[in-house]
Order: sequence, then C-alpha cells, then structure tokens
Amino acid sequence: MRKKIVAGNWKMNTTLTEAKNLTSELKQLFSNDIKCEMVVCPPFTWLTTVSENLNNSPIKIGSQNISHQEKGAFTGETSVAMIKEAGATYAIIGHSERRSLYGETNEVIHQKLIAGLSQQLNVILCCGETLEERNAGKLEEILTAQIQLGIGEMSLEYLPQLVIAYEPVWAIGTGLTASPEQAQEAHYFIRKLLSGIFGETAANNISILYGGSCNASNAGVLFSQSDIDGGLIGGASLKAQDFITIAKSF
Ligand code: 13P
Repeated sequence: MRKKIVAGNWKMNTTLTEAKNLTSELKQLFSNDIKCEMVVCPPFTWLTTVSENLNNSPIKIGSQNISHQEKGAFTGETSVAMIKEAGATYAIIGHSERRSLYGETNEVIHQKLIAGLSQQLNVILCCGETLEERNAGKLEEILTAQIQLGIGEMSLEYLPQLVIAYEPVWAIGTGLTASPEQAQEAHYFIRKLLSGIFGETAANNISILYGGSCNASNAGVLFSQSDIDGGLIGGASLKAQDFITIAKSF
C-alpha cells in the first residue's frame, strides 16, 4: 500500500499571526478519521513556530525549498540541517515557480534531492509541463527529463523518502484543474518512468501527488484515480477547513 499524503504549500503567504492561527485551526480540526499523512510547508521564517504549534500533532512540517550546499558563504540560502532543526521532516524541491522564476535546472534539483535524502528528509520532487509544452505534444518529453535528470543517480536506500508531485503549470493557481483523466494519464506515465529507473515493485511503492487547483470539491475524484496518491495543495491549504476536507477526501 502506497502512503497517502496531502501536503500544503503555503508559498509566500501568511503573516506570523496568520501562520499561528492556521496551524491552531488545523490542530483543532484534525480528527482520527484522517488516514493520510498531512504536511504543511510554511515560509522558512515560520517553520520553527509552526512546528512548535504542531507539537504533539500528527501533522508534519516541510520546507518549500532547500539548498544543495551544506553550509557556508551562500547568501540567502537555507540548509537541510537548518530546516531539520526548525522541525521539518519534508522538503519540496523543483517546484515550477522555482524552475521558471529562479532558474532552477534539473541538474541543481538533482543535487537538492540528494542533499535532502542523504540527510533523512522526505523529499517531494515536483514536475509538470506548461500549456505550451502540452499543446506542442511535449508532455512526455518534459516529464521524462524532469524525472530522469531530477532523480539521476540515487541510492535505492532512499526510496522510502522519495515522493513525486505532478503539477501541470497551467493548472497552478488558475482554477483550471487537470481533469481526473488527464491527471491519471500523467501519473501513470510518471510511474512507468519510475519503473524504468527503480523497477516495477519499487515504483508501485512511490507516492505520486497531484497539484494544481486541487480543492475541497475536486480532491475526491482526483484521489480516486489509481495512480494518484494525494495532493500538493497551494491556495486551498491556506484555509484550514478546506485543507482538512481535502485530507478526508480519500
Ligand atoms: P494551487 O493549489 O494554488 O493551484 O497551487 C498548486 C501548487 O503549486 C502547490 O505546490
């Protein structure tokens, strides 16, 4: 059985007070009928507070990025050791916003992947095509490059920590959710790629999350697809009740 995961990517949102209120509400609303792993990924500055607030809660903490460097003269960067000390056990890497706005390449994303995995983080590796790429028939080419180069040489011992998120760029923040069929087709293709890298049994154990305008209304039908194991949620993760409803959608 693959792990079901619902992760919230808060992006560059929330004041400190909002972050505290959101986590308190999540803690209150959490109930034992939630069977998936819930993860919140606040901005770096609130990681410690959010993790203190969620102490004794099953909700896990993640960062939205990590540096591939260990430490030193890397102005503005945040290391794996730092986010772990702040309470994070997950990290998102290779988000399309990091790729398109901050120039992250598959090569640097691979280095981040290894940095996170080798320091015991669960790493959510994001992939996904733009509308232009999809319309040009390049979906499979893009996913192949992002998955194969992003994973690169990776020790099999890290497999239990690896999570993939398929986030079609055209669906992020647009309200244009991929249809369940489109999402399932891409997830199935990604699992085939993983199978080519790690073998079928291992690929069948890797959770692949869907992201892109996933909300409390459409999560159920998306999560019922055979290769969709949860969601990476942006906007809807900023509303505690919506995020909890999504986590209950399996
Ligand atoms: P939205 O859910 O706001 O579309 O964002 C998705 C996303 O980018 C999560 O990482």
